[in-house]
Amino acid sequence: MIDEKLIRKEFPMLSNPPLMQGHPLVWLDNASTTLKPQCVLDAVSSYYISRTSNSHRGDYDLCYSMDVETELTRKAVSKLINCSPNEVVFTSGTTDSLNRLAQSLQYSLKKGDEIIISLSEHASNVLPWFQIAKHTGAVIKYVELQKDGLITLENLRKTLSKRTKIVSLAQVGNVLGQIQPIKELVAETHKFGAIFIVDGAQSVPHMPVDVKDLDCDFLCFSGHKICGPTGIGVLYGKYKLLEDLELNSVGGGMNDKFYLDGTIKPSKAPAKFEAGTQNLEGILGLRAAIEFIMKIGLENIAEHEHKLKKYAVERIKELGNSVIYNADVKSGIVTFNINDVFAQDAATYLNSKGIACRSGQHCAKLLNDFIGTPATIRASFYFYTTKEDIDKLVDAVSHGKEFLDAYF
Ligand code: ALA
Repeated sequence: MIDEKLIRKEFPMLSNPPLMQGHPLVWLDNASTTLKPQCVLDAVSSYYISRTSNSHRGDYDLCYSMDVETELTRKAVSKLINCSPNEVVFTSGTTDSLNRLAQSLQYSLKKGDEIIISLSEHASNVLPWFQIAKHTGAVIKYVELQKDGLITLENLRKTLSKRTKIVSLAQVGNVLGQIQPIKELVAETHKFGAIFIVDGAQSVPHMPVDVKDLDCDFLCFSGHKICGPTGIGVLYGKYKLLEDLELNSVGGGMNDKFYLDGTIKPSKAPAKFEAGTQNLEGILGLRAAIEFIMKIGLENIAEHEHKLKKYAVERIKELGNSVIYNADVKSGIVTFNINDVFAQDAATYLNSKGIACRSGQHCAKLLNDFIGTPATIRASFYFYTTKEDIDKLVDAVSHGKEFLDAYF
């Protein structure tokens, strides 16, 4: 059970909320980014106040302490998703993880090889694959979605073939919040000898994710969506696959030796994918965030969000002036429109009441035709979201389209 009122005290932006249009902030855009607890702010600023140094590059104490911190954060990530620390590569976020993976994997593709994605993917799980398809002649295929955005085993089976090399899907959709049956999809994909990549941006912060249990080959997520700093993220890969994976970025820190002719002797994974000085304040902040989240418990977080989601759906339905696109989905995302009001106008009105929701296409620009509307409003919750936050949202939504006159 989460005591969100107590937890909110740890977040400066919740205990002392900034004013938006004269109202204390109501933060309902957690699928976009999350607020930061004081322990994360302290970890980040400690790097600049008393710990500035590089890591893996010096023989003095400060530098050594950064080496230790980096490896402790790898350990924290490994506990969070149940892998080995040496299977954790630091990146700048999910987008970077997916791009780097695509860059490396392109060397294993031939003309006519197939990559499977879906219409509900975020741009960062669509565009990197098209980039490499352009160079390799690989073909992108879309697995059919059910009406609720879910992918059935049968639909994946129909799309897989002997030419499939990669399947890359989000575990939780960033618009509809649908939770895909990843474990079953992975098992099916492996029967065809293809690799399975999980975009975990919207799942890892919100529910227990166990990469061993899923048996996925790679998984990506971002620090800033799990109460950590921006500019830090993770690429998990099974160790053997990381060892075999081609380099995607070269420079200092990723090689044991290089030679006059440019030949590189790469370091062992994960170091071989971490060229250049790493985001050390981000690495410190990410560990503080993961420890904070794990203390609350991912099961508890999932349960809290789902409870709030059900409450929000009931209350919005009672108003009778809106259409909800994902009423039955068990995550903390409510995607809706107020009848006859364009989503971005509605979000602007919500802003006038201090409420932050995302509106538009949410970077998943292939999904709108599928759900039959050019734009939606998305309210997304986290463990610190309260019923009172939702009441404020519902109160604003209750004004339906009258507000347009009121506002303009
Ligand atoms: N990926 C983030 C979102 O869905 C930015 O809003």
